[in-house]
Amino acid sequence: MNRPLVIGNWKMNLDYVEAVHLIQQLGVVLKNKPLEHVDLVVAPPFVDIRSVTSVVESERVALEVGAQHASVHESGAHTGEVSVSMLQRLNVGWVLVGHSERRAMYAMTDEVVAQTLRTVVRQGLNAVLCVGEELSVREVEAHQDFVSAQLHAALEGLDEKSRPLVTIAYEPVWAIGTGLTATTTQVGEMTEHIRTVAASLSLGDVRVLYGGSVNADNATALMNEGRVDGFLVGGASLKADSFLAIAQAANDCYDSKR
Ligand code: 13P
Repeated sequence: MNRPLVIGNWKMNLDYVEAVHLIQQLGVVLKNKPLEHVDLVVAPPFVDIRSVTSVVESERVALEVGAQHASVHESGAHTGEVSVSMLQRLNVGWVLVGHSERRAMYAMTDEVVAQTLRTVVRQGLNAVLCVGEELSVREVEAHQDFVSAQLHAALEGLDEKSRPLVTIAYEPVWAIGTGLTATTTQVGEMTEHIRTVAASLSLGDVRVLYGGSVNADNATALMNEGRVDGFLVGGASLKADSFLAIAQAANDCYDSKR
């Protein structure tokens, strides 16, 4: 089992004042009760990042900061976009790549996902590649093929030096923000499938996360029976207590199996 990773994807929630408040709350709890066996990351909106990293650095909060997206381009005339080097300058260590909301709402194709992932890892940042099928795909039992195709499109030919910077997050679209968590059996089958495909692409040790309506009540079963290496959390990452309860569950599962 890999050391768990729990990432909070705040999506388009929390302005910078609210973000500072949440990160301070997380800092206080983590100081009183450190989580030794889990890596924690929060991915705020771009405009919050500077404020969040300032608090993380000045108050030594035990987590890293990520971004929800980055431009495929390195610089130039791309109105509204944010480059990886701008994020790097802010001490951002992680970037979500190809979240299903970016793919569906902002026309992020497999090709752009692959190029963005390369832009991220080229600069030495960690890329969290998001994959997952829609309900219509699962209904016709094509989910494994669909996810394989996404993995191949994004990871084929990735150079050896970049591979350790990749994490894979399985987020079935039908489980995101719906309260419909995938069953532990569904998650277990898919994580095994993802590990097999990743190994065939020379990414043997990759961490595989699950995302989609994760909460404090289902996290332990998803870790144990779904055999994931952690979570990508949306709604439940917006409150310190629910986010940390999930992190605690991941921490304890790993600790009990070491
Ligand atoms: P929810 O946890 O709100 O379902 O969101 C999952 C997600 O999309 C995280 O990236």
